[in-house]
Amino acid sequence: MTENLHTQKILILDFGSQYTQLIARRVRETQVYCEIHPFNISLEKIKAFSPMGIIFSGGPSSIYDKDAPMPDKGILDLNLPILGICYGMQYLTHLLGGVVSKAADREYGSASININDAEDLFHGFEEREGEMVWMSHGDRIDEMPRGFAVLASSKNSPTAAMADTSRRIFGVQFHPEVVHTPNGTKILKNFLFRICGCEPLWTMASFVKSTIKEMRETIGEERVICGLSGGVDSSVTAVLLHHAIGSQLSCILVDNGLLRRGESEEVMELFQEHYHMDMHLVDATDHFLGHLKDVTDPEEKRKIIGKEFITIFEKKAKELGEARYLAQGTLYPDVIESVSFKGPSATIKSHHNVGGLPDVMNLELVEPLRELFKDEVRQVGFELGLPRALVMRQPFPGPGLAVRILGEITHERLEILRSADVILLEEIRKADLYEKVWQSFAVLLPVRTVGVMGDERTYENVIAIRSVDSLDAMTADWTRIPYDVLGRISNRIINQVRGVNRVVYDISSKPPGTIEWE
Ligand code: XMP
Repeated sequence: MTENLHTQKILILDFGSQYTQLIARRVRETQVYCEIHPFNISLEKIKAFSPMGIIFSGGPSSIYDKDAPMPDKGILDLNLPILGICYGMQYLTHLLGGVVSKAADREYGSASININDAEDLFHGFEEREGEMVWMSHGDRIDEMPRGFAVLASSKNSPTAAMADTSRRIFGVQFHPEVVHTPNGTKILKNFLFRICGCEPLWTMASFVKSTIKEMRETIGEERVICGLSGGVDSSVTAVLLHHAIGSQLSCILVDNGLLRRGESEEVMELFQEHYHMDMHLVDATDHFLGHLKDVTDPEEKRKIIGKEFITIFEKKAKELGEARYLAQGTLYPDVIESVSFKGPSATIKSHHNVGGLPDVMNLELVEPLRELFKDEVRQVGFELGLPRALVMRQPFPGPGLAVRILGEITHERLEILRSADVILLEEIRKADLYEKVWQSFAVLLPVRTVGVMGDERTYENVIAIRSVDSLDAMTADWTRIPYDVLGRISNRIINQVRGVNRVVYDISSKPPGTIEWE
């Protein structure tokens, strides 16, 4: 990375809160670069990272727990501004000689705080009661450490916010990073801009510029190959690299026969005709469907598709000649997954990544997006002039329609599902829902039901419609699609898709359900 993009950084120490990524996203939204690291990062590493300030996240522990996370105490001697959130504040209190105690009841939910000091952290607020914040804690501060003053209080938390302004150490019992704290961003901005002295330098325009420059320097004259699926991450990765190294980049699109209707043609058209990229389409439909014959177990399907993808990709790459690098659209959340000490999402399904390629092929990785969150990747996409339909595309699983056809996958069943899927997406777009929901798709069930069409009794397939609202796919709720939209989707699918005589709507949330059916 070039100097100026990363001259001003904030370090977020992860104490295991479910909100740690959200803190980072809020900080990035203010155009300040930040990174999440485990709470026990060494002082040397912190010094090398050279942040302008540190945020301690919340966490599920009590500081009295036997294995409560405790960072290196020397962190205070770095004389950097610190903001402790929830557990982070309790840890600071404990470390500096104050008293933390169990609150009589766990406080969870919205609370009203009284702001006593509208300077620094609460600059621009009014000194009054009634500021709404989101609380989620068991312990509370009974006695502040010496040198600290109360900035805000609530009925249940006499010390809802505190500070030792001379040492620039701040603590809040509530969560400024969640939307239920309506002025939370204002508090974070005060910390970042007023207290740490950051400026809003982190923009996607500057990211694009510096990344292109950096890629050029790293890659030099070498060749790079990239698997391009047409999803947002791989598309942005490829276009960014194309800007950097032009014809040294070759992209491979493996059509595994499990894509939606017209998908591989659209991807080829955009990148070959419009961007003039070196594109290579491999139509491996028969190969994949052959290997999937008679397979009904979902994990088995995933394994086969992952393995055969590597086989096909490797073969094509070899045909294209020697490459030194493999470009991948790894995003920051994947990077955090592998470093956080025990983040709540540590158990995310590993099958979501088509792994193994670089090892098998002996290639070095280029991952230009590994610092970005998804919303930042989308902004980069816009910055690069990619079409909106691509940038705002809903996620699509690597194993494609295979995990949306329950039971065996055949050409005929794929065609039924594709036809239903086209209608569903058309209606979702018409209803202006496509960009509002996280994902919307059709699923073909492995059962047949009885119906009547004209004078005839039918015995045909069932399509389930799934549409969910979500922020990050970790949790999701079913979309409240208006009845008339559901009605149109159902009518059209039953009338227009041969072999379907019933449509149902899935109203399960995640957890306990998952988004996909398999
Ligand atoms: P679940 O079904 O686990 O899905 O709630 C969460 C998100 O991940 C996508 N998904 C996959 N993506 N390979 C992928 O690349 C997979 O095997 C896979 N399974 C689920 C799913 O579409 C949703 O966005």
